[in-house]
Amino acid sequence: MKNIAVGIIGTGSYLPPTILTNRDLEKMVDTSDEWIRTRSGIMERRITGPDIATSDMAAEAARRAMDDAKITPEEIDLIIVGTVTPDNAYPSTACTVQRKIGAVNAAAFDLAAGCSGYMYSLAVGTQFIKTGFYKKVLVIGGDNLSKFTDWTDRATCVLFGDGAGAAVLSEVEEGYGLLSFHLGADGSGGDLLILPAGGSRMPASEETVRQRLHYTRMNGHEVYKFAVRVMDKAVKEALEKIGMKPEDLDYLVPHQANIRIINHAARRLKIPTEKVFVNIHKYANTSAGSIAIALDEAKRQGMIKRGDIVAFVGFGAGLTWGAGVCRWV
Ligand code: ACO
Repeated sequence: MKNIAVGIIGTGSYLPPTILTNRDLEKMVDTSDEWIRTRSGIMERRITGPDIATSDMAAEAARRAMDDAKITPEEIDLIIVGTVTPDNAYPSTACTVQRKIGAVNAAAFDLAAGCSGYMYSLAVGTQFIKTGFYKKVLVIGGDNLSKFTDWTDRATCVLFGDGAGAAVLSEVEEGYGLLSFHLGADGSGGDLLILPAGGSRMPASEETVRQRLHYTRMNGHEVYKFAVRVMDKAVKEALEKIGMKPEDLDYLVPHQANIRIINHAARRLKIPTEKVFVNIHKYANTSAGSIAIALDEAKRQGMIKRGDIVAFVGFGAGLTWGAGVCRWV
């Protein structure tokens, strides 16, 4: 079988226009701009409000990625939306996006892997092209966590923002594109980051609403320890599979959850900070949107050039983690 090289031929992203600053949060919960900045690196985040659902952000990011790739919606064979905040439990957000962008020839499904949703989706989408099954795959990562955030819980509400990013995958020149992936999961840590109610385990009831169980619950300290354990390891695993080392990297695009976690991973990989993309100060943690948005911004700001070896890495609810390495097309 021919070895088909698969790469990202277009990217796009969408951030809702409403900005919520740390100063705004000071008026809502017992916190301070100083605490949020020093503990997480976040200065402000984007929030959707009542009129914007995940599919609206995902569809706009997708349109921008298709423009960038210079392809039409009809050319898309498959849409994968990495999200844990779908518009509805069903239909899938991917099907809603398919309708919104007019991708009439595309199959569509959602993929739930928390903040690793984009990494997982990228890996899955790549396989569909590698096998020759599909030619063009639209991979979207997006979340609308503000709708599932307890705005009275200072331990979580300061950390998250909304947004979506998209990438068009296609066959590319041999030696270029997505060269390697490493994905992982540890379901024993599922309770560390969980939306307790609203599923089949604990359906919505007056009691679940009263107990605020439809909002994100997180053990921040344990998630932090997990993140610093897996971030650099995941990148090294992905590099090892193709005989590369951290020093071969030209650029790292990490999940934007906490600047301290990002800096820790960069230190362990011995990557200088100027080679690490950071936009957490503007958008906070946009979950599955994070790496997709960061990659789009890095590309549009001219930070990634053809031939660069770029790594992506994320971690999230599940627990899950994922890393990928590409030679930029
Ligand atoms: N403002 C002021 N004080 C606060 C706030 C706040 N917003 N939040 C917590 N505190 C207090 C705590 O109550 C605690 O006080 P205490 O010592 O009196 O009990 C103190 O600050 C220190 O709290 P820690 O949790 O020890 O602070 P830490 O330095 O660990 O930082 C943080 C907390 C930012 C949450 C960090 O643990 C973290 O980033 N964890 C990872 C979170 C993460 O990445 N989650 C996303 C995963 S991806 C996904 O799938 C969505």
